[in-house]
Amino acid sequence: MPYSIAIDGPAGAGKSTIARMTAEKLGYIYVDTGAMYRAMALFLIRNNIAADDNEAVSRECRNADISIEYRDGEQVVLLGGQNVNPYLRTGEVSNMASVSSTNADVRVKLVELQRKLAEKANVVMDGRDIGTVVLPHAQCKIYLTASVAVRAKRRFDEIIEKGGEADIETISREIEERDYRDMNRANSPLKQADDAVYLDTSDLTIDEVTEKIMDIAKQKGIL
Ligand code: DC
Repeated sequence: MPYSIAIDGPAGAGKSTIARMTAEKLGYIYVDTGAMYRAMALFLIRNNIAADDNEAVSRECRNADISIEYRDGEQVVLLGGQNVNPYLRTGEVSNMASVSSTNADVRVKLVELQRKLAEKANVVMDGRDIGTVVLPHAQCKIYLTASVAVRAKRRFDEIIEKGGEADIETISREIEERDYRDMNRANSPLKQADDAVYLDTSDLTIDEVTEKIMDIAKQKGIL
């Protein structure tokens, strides 16, 4: 059976950067499940489905043809066979994904896709419910988090670096709201799996966090 490393945690904890680096070090495939929820959101937007119309989301999500490919080591999300990676990071898609990912039918469909990927290859998979729902038998589980202040500062710096404008208080509030939604939804809420290792990255560099995860993987018999 292939090895799986599950990394869960709130938005802005550094999951994708850390998961990508860990996968690279180990020669594993990095699976970004958030991008799949975003591709589904894009599909719903393109089909004029309202985020809060749960029935329409349930009906329409069945028609979404989402698949994953790896090109030069990068995950490419295909929607109807077309690479949609460039369209997944907009505010509109983020907002839709935050709501449509609470739909049970959306989750069933995407969890199936995620499990299939992990059956075929060694993976580092990040998301909100990987250790608890998607891969409960993952050999190594990490719950990655950081304080709201640190996560807001990281997001702020990212926006400024890209030449944008941002207000740290607004970002903090949005992070708190998103945490609340992610942790309190009925379907697969964000929570630490009983056997996950808790890692607060507030005072750690990316390299330090990756080193810690490599150590934990070693302890779990992966290396
Ligand atoms: O990690 P992200 O920001 O790319 O995730 C996009 C949205 O999808 C976010 O609102 C949380 C949701 N999500 C989820 O519900 N379950 C996952 N395994 C991954 C993401």
